[in-house]
Amino acid sequence: MNPDIESVLVTEEEIKIKVKEIGNRISADFSNLNPMFIGILKGSFMFMSDLMRNVDISCSADFMGVSSYGTGTTSTGAVSITKDLQENIENRNVILVEDILDSGMTLNYLINILSVRNPASISTATFLDKPSRRKKPIYADYVGVEIPNVFVVGYGLDYAEKYRNLPYIGILKPEIYAE
Ligand code: PRP
Repeated sequence: MNPDIESVLVTEEEIKIKVKEIGNRISADFSNLNPMFIGILKGSFMFMSDLMRNVDISCSADFMGVSSYGTGTTSTGAVSITKDLQENIENRNVILVEDILDSGMTLNYLINILSVRNPASISTATFLDKPSRRKKPIYADYVGVEIPNVFVVGYGLDYAEKYRNLPYIGILKPEIYAE
């Protein structure tokens, strides 16, 4: 295990099982709807690729870059777009894919700005959900694991851009972000 990690919250094996479950549900819910998966960069890249591998219906992918956290451990609440979509989402069934749903500010903002582009529907899938931190009444349609209010890294999630490569979700040792 990475020496900066205090404990593992979600193991690789648990991740596999949860992603497969969500993939199966999405395949059933969107068969014949040709959904467009929209990965919200950067954190979602790993979940997005695993999720799409577990979906066996016609679908496409695009990415959007959004940033709100800076290098700290809590959200500043300010959301900005760093990369817009390449595809037109008009009349498409889009599925926003997130690594974590925390305050809800990011998804709330994205749903607002994407609704204006007239998609057929907007659904949301998040691997992690921290409902205790919510500031906006946002619920994801597909949730991998609900977690308490602890600072986690790995499986796409970073601290100061590190640890995204860990294949599990880990709790960072407090001394690492207290430095
Ligand atoms: C994280 C995460 C979500 C957002 C969730 O992104 O990937 O997009 O925060 O938090 P919220 O519900 O409080 O809005 P971050 O800004 O850390 O960027 P990153 O994905 O590039 O690491």
